[in-house]
Amino acid sequence: MLKKLSAALAAGLLASVLAACGGGGEDTASGGEAGSGKIVLGFSQVGSESGWRAANTKSVKDSAATAGIDLKFSDAQQKQENQIASIRSYIQQKVDVIAFSPVVVTGWDAVLKEAQAAKIPVILTDRAVDSDASLYATFIGSDFVKEGEEVGKWALEEFKSATGPVNIVQLEGTVGSAPAIDRKKGFEATIASNPNLKVIASQSGDFTRAKGKEVMQALLQANPKIDLLFAHNDDMGLGAIEAIKAAGLKPGTDIKIATIDAVKDGMTALAANEINFIAECSPLLGEQLMELTKKAAAGEPLEKRIVTKETTFTPQQAAEVLSTRQY
Ligand code: AHR
Repeated sequence: MLKKLSAALAAGLLASVLAACGGGGEDTASGGEAGSGKIVLGFSQVGSESGWRAANTKSVKDSAATAGIDLKFSDAQQKQENQIASIRSYIQQKVDVIAFSPVVVTGWDAVLKEAQAAKIPVILTDRAVDSDASLYATFIGSDFVKEGEEVGKWALEEFKSATGPVNIVQLEGTVGSAPAIDRKKGFEATIASNPNLKVIASQSGDFTRAKGKEVMQALLQANPKIDLLFAHNDDMGLGAIEAIKAAGLKPGTDIKIATIDAVKDGMTALAANEINFIAECSPLLGEQLMELTKKAAAGEPLEKRIVTKETTFTPQQAAEVLSTRQY
């Protein structure tokens, strides 16, 4: 009897020791949660503010499943404090790699230092931060300044024969976010070469369709002559189109419209000549992110900056590619 009891105790003790080892994963590169053997990636998404974001979330989730990576996903609902809380929770859970798309540029130093102290590599996706580059492993995403410049170049061409002022209104993205800052910078610097082109009003629509509509309504009331609307994403442009129609004007004709993203709804409006030009911003970052996650988990060195390849679209080009568009 006594013999049986000590054998059972010994087996129990051995099982707890094994469980503790497997579940720790503390210093292992790819220990994963509870010894699953899979790489664990903690991902903090900005929110679900736009069609672009929905496509980006799908790309990340699908690619993690295909790559066999255990994805822990959280939606910050456009709030920096939620992102910081998620990142801290990923640090506590000892995930192998952390990735996030920062809602704004500033305020990340402390949490990035915490991740570094815990030896967890951090990958920035989509948006930049103003922290020192030594605090993250790599940054994968678009060149937002270039996107703004592309819209600026199109505007210069579109209004090159204007003899008087061309009144421009700008719907900016989320205040303090990298795409809002950089697209504005690229656009305004480019159009500066033609003094006829003037930004008469510039306001944030927070990258959402509802806000784009609301702000455009106010801009239409305050400014009797608007020649061009530059919206920092398709969704705000689509909201603005509703406001323009409600004001009895024809979008794309009475007011020219240029946007950024090239999601399906934007491309549909472009093909229908309600938008005149779109600079692409690709949300399909998932596959590359999973490759980088594997490398980071294995301790391999990563290129510090990886820029997404993108193009631009006219109405005719949109009509040609619409049926094959993935998002
Ligand atoms: O950071 C990328 C931007 O964020 C996209 O242009 C916009 O649609 C999204 O909300």
